[in-house]
Amino acid sequence: MTAAAFEKWVPKIEASLGEVLPAVAEEPSKLHEAMRYSIFAGGKRIRPVLAMTAYEACGGNEPEVVLPAAAALELLHTYSLIHDDLPAMDNDDLRRGKPTSHVVFGEAVAILAGDALLTLGAELLMTRPKGAAYLAKRAKASRVVFKALGTRGMAGGQVLDLEAEGAEQVKADDLAKIHRMKTGVFLEACLVCGGIWAGARAETLAALKRYGAALGMAFQVVDDILDATQTKETIGKTPGKDEKSGKATFVKVWGVAGARRHADRLLSEALRALSPVGERSLALREPAHFVVDRDR
Ligand code: IPE
Ligand code: IPE
Ligand code: MG
Ligand code: MG
Ligand code: MG
Repeated sequence: MTAAAFEKWVPKIEASLGEVLPAVAEEPSKLHEAMRYSIFAGGKRIRPVLAMTAYEACGGNEPEVVLPAAAALELLHTYSLIHDDLPAMDNDDLRRGKPTSHVVFGEAVAILAGDALLTLGAELLMTRPKGAAYLAKRAKASRVVFKALGTRGMAGGQVLDLEAEGAEQVKADDLAKIHRMKTGVFLEACLVCGGIWAGARAETLAALKRYGAALGMAFQVVDDILDATQTKETIGKTPGKDEKSGKATFVKVWGVAGARRHADRLLSEALRALSPVGERSLALREPAHFVVDRDR
């Protein structure tokens, strides 16, 4: 499935990623090779696409200036994937259709490639979009993103995810909290960043936040469904891994059909949240359908 927003933004995001990453020829080559390996293994680029779509939906009209900041969001996401796959976490050997970073480069370099993607992403968010006009926006967007990656967001959620492994019973509320923290909050932050760079007013940012919260949750519910239903070739990850590891997922709690109904409910909730954004929010409807109806 392709969507216009992805056709429009992905090539530009790829180009920007190529520019912001250090060259392999630069020492230490191994580290730079590992960073580029994971980034260019072929991700869907959902987070930067959502950020750019939100930016234009909020009236932003300097996409070229904003793109490196959107690319930074993909660096941060890829950092989280490299660490998520480590033996100490999910212990996965396939990601984006290729052997995982630690399998190819060893654990030490994989950890450091993740660290370097995280810090480069942070540096970019604090320096892009360039120019004095964006000074306050850079600070605001950085705060939103770093908060989403920390103890009350991704890092905290990843700990809860690991702690819930092997639990006999998982309550839907506890699971929603894990999913919101490990995945939802960052996806939400990416949308809010688009609004911040465009100078959207508080009411619009609040609407983007509600849209992002529902879509972020839907995204992780679908991730759980794909793990249980898809092939290795389609998702580029080892399927059936969640059940094998005893992960707390929506499929475990409600079954595939129940999880699917939940994802559809969350999609409707996300779309409803868009009304204060006005006519331009139409651009955000299509990527929401993409996130929920994807097969990979
Ligand atoms: C997978 O994210 C990891 C989760 C947060 C569930 P994506 O499905 O966006 O992975 P890529 O970037 O396309 O590889
Ligand atoms: C990963 O969730 C969330 C983050 C990377 C923060 P999963 O562990 O379900 O992601 P996949 O299925 O390995 O991509
Ligand atoms: Mg995980
Ligand atoms: Mg994982
Ligand atoms: Mg998963």
